[in-house]
Amino acid sequence: MSISRRDFLLGTGFGAAGLVVGAGLPTLLKSDVPSVALNVFDYQKLAKNRLPGIVFDYLEGGSGSERALHHNLAVFEKLSFKPRRLVDISHRKQGITLFGKPQTSPFMIGPTGGNSALWPNADLALARAAKQAGIPFTLSTPAGNSIEEVAKGVDSNKWFQLYVSNREQSKVLAKRALTAGYTTLVLTIDVAVNGLRERDQRNGFKIPMDMTPSVILDGITHPRWSMDYVVNPPQLANFVSDNAADIEAQTQAMNRNLDATFDWAALRQLREIWPRTLLVKGILNADDAVQCIENGADGIILSNHGGRQLGEALSPLQVLAETRRKVDKPILIDSGFRRGADIIKALALGANCVLLGRATLYGVAANGQEGVSDVISILQNEIDNILAQIGCADVNSLNPSYLHEDSVRLMQSI
Ligand SMILES: Cc1cc2nc3c(=O)[nH]c(=O)nc-3n(C[C@H](O)[C@H](O)[C@H](O)COP(=O)(O)O)c2cc1C
Repeated sequence: MSISRRDFLLGTGFGAAGLVVGAGLPTLLKSDVPSVALNVFDYQKLAKNRLPGIVFDYLEGGSGSERALHHNLAVFEKLSFKPRRLVDISHRKQGITLFGKPQTSPFMIGPTGGNSALWPNADLALARAAKQAGIPFTLSTPAGNSIEEVAKGVDSNKWFQLYVSNREQSKVLAKRALTAGYTTLVLTIDVAVNGLRERDQRNGFKIPMDMTPSVILDGITHPRWSMDYVVNPPQLANFVSDNAADIEAQTQAMNRNLDATFDWAALRQLREIWPRTLLVKGILNADDAVQCIENGADGIILSNHGGRQLGEALSPLQVLAETRRKVDKPILIDSGFRRGADIIKALALGANCVLLGRATLYGVAANGQEGVSDVISILQNEIDNILAQIGCADVNSLNPSYLHEDSVRLMQSI
């Protein structure tokens, strides 16, 4: 497979002059801003460069000690590949079929809220890039483009993520997603309370942002972002109504915290009103995964919310193999995936698909839809390259034998 990648600097419309005007003077002074984006970490730097610090911290930060955030990435280093040789790898396949639907790669875009603070109409940009690449996109409850707007604008395999803070309100949202043609409902259950995000607390981050002197200075030094923000102020589009036309009223209408009484019986009730694929996101215990399936879920998403909730949580990768042994339905996973190699490691341990969080957000924050498409291409290229190197022609044939046993054992015991 050969996927052509665009050169970031020359091919995305920034150009040399654009880079100076667009990203502001500090760009010229920063030596760590790559001129060509070769990997997701380069996009992380480009996103950091374009966004005011307060917004980048919102995107990047974890909760509490941020140990889970760092551990999510570090855990992949514990796993090493054990390649096979003299295998015909002349035709390599990375397409999978998930819930009866084919997709071109074994990853997709997961749900993230507040995206419109990163780029105008970021949810539409992410959905369009996903469609173009042939992978699913998940719209979050606190999205900047509404369920209906994204459905109308992008005819593709779209999923909707639900926060249940108020049962009646969530039923209405699920019905809207059903009517609009979303194929899958993702119930996020790891938000009993908000994670203590110290970066946001220190910065005084909230939406809408208070225009404090430091926020104004941050905006002045990031003029391209500031212009976008002023012309397209962020919204919680799923909560726009006659009574909630502005973001402040929408924020009051939306509470992210899971209804504290939500239990297995409530999951069964949700199952009754959602006839299509239902997934539960935020599982970190194989026994909970079993219970999700017993109570009607079609699959589960192992996740620690990208280290944004429980600051000392384990990485979902550490419970993946055990969950695979106990659950025979699709297991999806997220948290910390930045490289094609990470995705292949998770598939080898039994995951069916990986959800991207920050990886594609770096793309959209750096350069809108083009940036997302480029991040997707980078990951596809990396996956293709690694398949060839480990002697596996098809992602569907991956299994633990492609990983060194000691590293698998070590990973589960840390
Ligand atoms: C900025 C941001 C906003 C997020 N918003 C949501 C959300 O609205 N709903 C949800 O279920 N998860 C949300 N998440 C968690 C992601 O779905 C995913 O679990 C996490 O980003 C995966 O980790 P990664 O970013 O390291 O890949 C958010 C994550 C980020 C970074």
